[in-house]
Amino acid sequence: MKLAVNFAGVELKNPIATASGTCGFGMEYLPYYKASELGAVTLKALSIRPKAGNAVVRIAETPSGMLNSIGLQNPGVDSFLENKLEFVKNLGTKIIANIAGESMEDYEAVAEKLNVDGIDMIELNISCPNVSDGGLAFGTNPKIVEEITSRIKKKTEKPLIVKLSPNVTDITEIARAAESGGADALSLINTLMGMRIDAHTRRPVLSRGSGGLSGPAVKPVALHMISAVHRAVDLPLLGMGGIMTGRDAAEFLIAGATAVAIGTAAFADPKAPVRILGELREFMAAEGVEDVNDLIGTLKFN
Ligand SMILES: Cc1cc2nc3c(=O)[nH]c(=O)nc-3n(C[C@H](O)[C@H](O)[C@H](O)COP(=O)(O)O)c2cc1C
Repeated sequence: MKLAVNFAGVELKNPIATASGTCGFGMEYLPYYKASELGAVTLKALSIRPKAGNAVVRIAETPSGMLNSIGLQNPGVDSFLENKLEFVKNLGTKIIANIAGESMEDYEAVAEKLNVDGIDMIELNISCPNVSDGGLAFGTNPKIVEEITSRIKKKTEKPLIVKLSPNVTDITEIARAAESGGADALSLINTLMGMRIDAHTRRPVLSRGSGGLSGPAVKPVALHMISAVHRAVDLPLLGMGGIMTGRDAAEFLIAGATAVAIGTAAFADPKAPVRILGELREFMAAEGVEDVNDLIGTLKFN
């Protein structure tokens, strides 16, 4: 059975990756499986300066999902390069570094610093709902998306993935803007804005008020958007949003994703990414699919 895929020129041994921000730089899943079993791991967002993130409470469970408002907590790119790069380099899988910023210059500086051995791809996070500057403020405006993509493309030596937000009216317009800016690939979806309220205290459960919704609740939104974006642009897609099983992963590939990332599932089951890989194999065997590439973008409308 062939599971390897070529994602924007990078050979992944299989199409399963971890989603950004859902494990830390210490790779907390290591007691449960080896990163080398996966096609890629995506690092938590890196910014030019260290970020403490938002005040707690910043995670809350919802029916079929969770809300988070972490706020891009990270040690800063310099500390990552000094203390974590060597470790990450030896994980035996492809490494996708996720970058964040409060200004175009911040993003450029982080991208430039990550032109090092051991980082295979850059994921440009212009879709974080949990910070007031950068993030969503950039990712919802097609002109800014095109400009930031082309500016980062000039600074990075790595294939550039632009991560799209579902918090827009027409995601295909943003996807086309990233394509015009020179993106090598797109990833989608980031979290959907949501809120929980405690009726007794009459306060939001999250300290910041609203946060980003992820998990199975967002899966139909993700599939709809991946299918639409796959038809709108000529770029490979990294699909994510509520994947819990191998069959879910297959649906994302069929919708048009070349590879998929697992986030929230690992909060309930730390082994989820490798379990999902095993289940994808079982699905392929049951369907008589020899090569995972024969699933990608095969959605039929009639
Ligand atoms: C706790 C948490 C932290 C996240 N942090 C980031 C981040 O730093 N950068 C980013 O691009 N996406 C971040 N995300 C979004 C995920 O990478 C992913 O796009 C989203 O959660 C949908 O996938 P899922 O339903 O499998 O979790 C985060 C999600 C969660 C739940």
